[in-house]
Amino acid sequence: MTPDLMEEGARIREARAARPAPTGKTESGGRKAGFSRIATPGEVDITHGRILYLEDVSVSFDGFKAINKLSLDIAPGELRCIIGPNGAGKTTMMDIITGKTRPDSGTVFFGSTIDLLRHNEPQIAQLGIGRKFQKPTVFEQLSVFENLELALKTHKGVAASMRFRLDSAQSDRVAELLHTIHLADSVRRMAGNLSHGQKQWLEIGMLLMQDPKLLLLDEPVAGMTDEETARTAELFLTLKGKHSLMVVEHDMSFIKTISEIVTVLCDGSVLAQGTLDQVQADERVIEVYLGR
Ligand SMILES: Nc1ncnc2c1ncn2[C@@H]1O[C@H](COP(=O)(O)OP(=O)(O)OP(=O)(O)O)[C@@H](O)[C@H]1O
Ligand SMILES: [Mg+2]
Repeated sequence: MTPDLMEEGARIREARAARPAPTGKTESGGRKAGFSRIATPGEVDITHGRILYLEDVSVSFDGFKAINKLSLDIAPGELRCIIGPNGAGKTTMMDIITGKTRPDSGTVFFGSTIDLLRHNEPQIAQLGIGRKFQKPTVFEQLSVFENLELALKTHKGVAASMRFRLDSAQSDRVAELLHTIHLADSVRRMAGNLSHGQKQWLEIGMLLMQDPKLLLLDEPVAGMTDEETARTAELFLTLKGKHSLMVVEHDMSFIKTISEIVTVLCDGSVLAQGTLDQVQADERVIEVYLGR
């Protein structure tokens, strides 16, 4: 840089500094310059009122469109029920959300900033999406307590789990959780000796140890007794608000107990949505699913 250029630069800088500060009445009339927020890593941004957002998602298996331009969103704290005939794409939708299946096209967001299609299955679990498959997958040889403890350890990663001990806050949490999942009296029992329903609750408890923001539950009451089903409904109603839940079920009386908004899937896309009464009265839903 030449001395004359340096002089010119210094002159411009001084002239700028001497300018009066803006009075607040700017060309935009004093409005904020733009909408912005500070992104916090690890936090799900729900400022737009949506925890999960799917738009125009499609996936084909050997030319068969299992998911076909599916668009659906869920509000934070909502308990959304999903119903629909066999093969409608309900499980495949959960596979897509959790990173098990890659869609051919479409958008899948967790909050408004996390693009789930850029993450793999373990990352998505770490981000705060828990999934319950239909079959209970608990460690049968371990006690109820050990299963819950293990769930917390696993979430903390292998290195941390080597020196892991429950602190008192975590022990309190386990105690509270045991009540929530109706297993407070079975804490030392082998998981293998629990009933089918109790195993399901334990697995839900294991997911809750990881404090998921969104829980996906695929046919959670299949194979349960009526009493277990009723207690599961109670459990889901207590989880609602603290977590967002997406529940796929065929059991209509269970859906009736827990549902607010029900989404009906058919042929890989949304056929109808509304209260259970609304969708049950929908001719197209009766035709493809509920029967006459
Ligand atoms: N990995 C896969 N490969 C091939 N076809 C698949 C695969 N996954 C799902 N499908 C097909 O996609 C369609 C949707 O299946 P999906 O399991 O999502 O249905 P669903 O709504 O969960 O049904 P159900 O109520 O019986 O559980 C089915 O026709 C199924 O055979
Ligand atoms: Mg299924």
